[in-house]
Amino acid sequence: MCGIIGYIGGGNAAEVVYRGLKRLEYRGYDSAGGAFVCDGRLVIAKKEGKVEKLSPLLEGVRANIGIGHTRWATHGVPSDVNAHPHSAGGIAIVHNGIIENYAELKNKLLDEGVIFRSDTDSEVIAHLLARAYKGDLTGALAETVGLLKGSYAIMAICEREHIISLACNKSPLIIGRGDDGYYCASDEPALAGYCPDVAVLQDGDIAELRADEASVFNGEMQLVIRETVPNLAVCSELGLDGYPHYMSKEIGEIPAAVAQTVKVFGSVKQKIAETLGGAKRIILTGCGTAYHAALLGKIYFENMLGVPSEVETAGELRYKKNVVGESVVAFAISQSGETADTVEVARLLKSLGAKVVAVTNSLHSQLTRVADAVVPVAAGPEICVAATKSYSGQVAALYLCALAAAGTEGDGGLGALPETIERTLERTDTRSLAQVCAHSRGVYFLGRGIDYAVAVEGSLKLKEVSYVPGEGYPSGELKHGTLALIDGQTTSVFVICDEALAEKSVVAAEQVLARGGKVAVITCIDSVREKLENRTEYFCRLEKVDKFLSPLLSSAVLFGLAYDAAVALGRDPDKPRNLAKSVTVE
Ligand code: M6R
Repeated sequence: MCGIIGYIGGGNAAEVVYRGLKRLEYRGYDSAGGAFVCDGRLVIAKKEGKVEKLSPLLEGVRANIGIGHTRWATHGVPSDVNAHPHSAGGIAIVHNGIIENYAELKNKLLDEGVIFRSDTDSEVIAHLLARAYKGDLTGALAETVGLLKGSYAIMAICEREHIISLACNKSPLIIGRGDDGYYCASDEPALAGYCPDVAVLQDGDIAELRADEASVFNGEMQLVIRETVPNLAVCSELGLDGYPHYMSKEIGEIPAAVAQTVKVFGSVKQKIAETLGGAKRIILTGCGTAYHAALLGKIYFENMLGVPSEVETAGELRYKKNVVGESVVAFAISQSGETADTVEVARLLKSLGAKVVAVTNSLHSQLTRVADAVVPVAAGPEICVAATKSYSGQVAALYLCALAAAGTEGDGGLGALPETIERTLERTDTRSLAQVCAHSRGVYFLGRGIDYAVAVEGSLKLKEVSYVPGEGYPSGELKHGTLALIDGQTTSVFVICDEALAEKSVVAAEQVLARGGKVAVITCIDSVREKLENRTEYFCRLEKVDKFLSPLLSSAVLFGLAYDAAVALGRDPDKPRNLAKSVTVE
């Protein structure tokens, strides 16, 4: 949610900033901008829209120091004027986060006669810094953040000092040393190819970068050393590799994400078995797609361990009355490991006595620092805003956790699954169904039990990238309300892979057909084919796999459907409107 990057050294900061912003664009694409010091003067370039719009404005900018920002708007519409950097008194800042007390601070500054140019919360930081500055930018930043409430990762530069000053609290910030200077950014991909290692700043840290030196201070301004970790982002994995979109590339990488997750699980298996040993209750949480993976985790834990398990979105769990008794294990699931609600609820549950297990694709994220144990999702970088391969990795990881805690030897058939997913992707063509969905008034995804958990994810994905409205719904509930929406302009996509419940979903499909609704079916059950194939708009026959593994096949088909629908409607599936990948604000 907003990406920031900074550079100081011998190279051209404009190039580093632009390249870094391109790599951070998945964090927001409402506007982009950069600030540089050229011959002792601040030069600021910013523009509404995607990062590429900044490119012409940076032509000719030569500077050894610069900061940049790609925005996901929270306060103030996407516009040139609301774009970062914001500046005052020869100081420029970029900010990721939300300043909760900005209105109060702004009113005080207005009373003092300060003139604001934007509607953002971030602009107060620039004015407070200008007011506090007495020849020491880092000191002024430390004084300024003392006035702020909320979350922030801030980078500041000024005309009178050749440094970048940094501060962070509950928003990610890393620094790294390259061959020709120091770098700082929200995330590892921005520094891929520049910094082989990075230091992850902690909440309350202040830092100062010079071309040949980095200093980090804690909240009391004592010099501290932060652990350096390998930068896991690799340039060769960050490109499109011949694919038209990251979404199609990442769907193609689902088999590898599952295979790698199985491979790395060995290193944590023992710890997870111990953590879950004696658990009397399991709580699973996450947001969006991660929450949908949690729905499957609940099914795995209850069926394979017999431990009562509950699932709630992190945003709800965080604010309800939580009663955490003895022997509670909480699974916090997050691709980015930075989602504010998920990180905060993990902190809360831990403080209430639960053991927290993070299931994440980002091993250096905030979530891993909160957790008692970490289960790696080895999906590799996921750049498309819509989560696909990370979901598959999360589902595989949760299945492996349940197997480990149940003391089951082997991988429960998961080891062979990547090949089956590969074949499924090769043989399945969802383009005709995508056309139908793209021109439907509503698309309903229906299933029961394990298939319902997949249906809600299929629905989210289609809405997110194609903007076609719809809903994921338990097929047994259809007749209790949603059936009223069904007519010839709606499409109902049934997922039917649980043999025990298949007949019940077939009956629901009959009810839709009887009302003139269009029906599509994704199934691995032969009897469903006999009953429905000839009357559907689309029928996808999956290979028969264990019911618990079937979501990895059916979801891959639904991801393909969402992608094809987005393309059919001319949407950009990688950057859906209004969204960003890492939701680091509430
Ligand atoms: O990084 P996280 O897994 O914590 O992100 C959670 C959601 O924001 C995310 O899954 C979102 O729903 C996706 N855009 C869905 O495709």
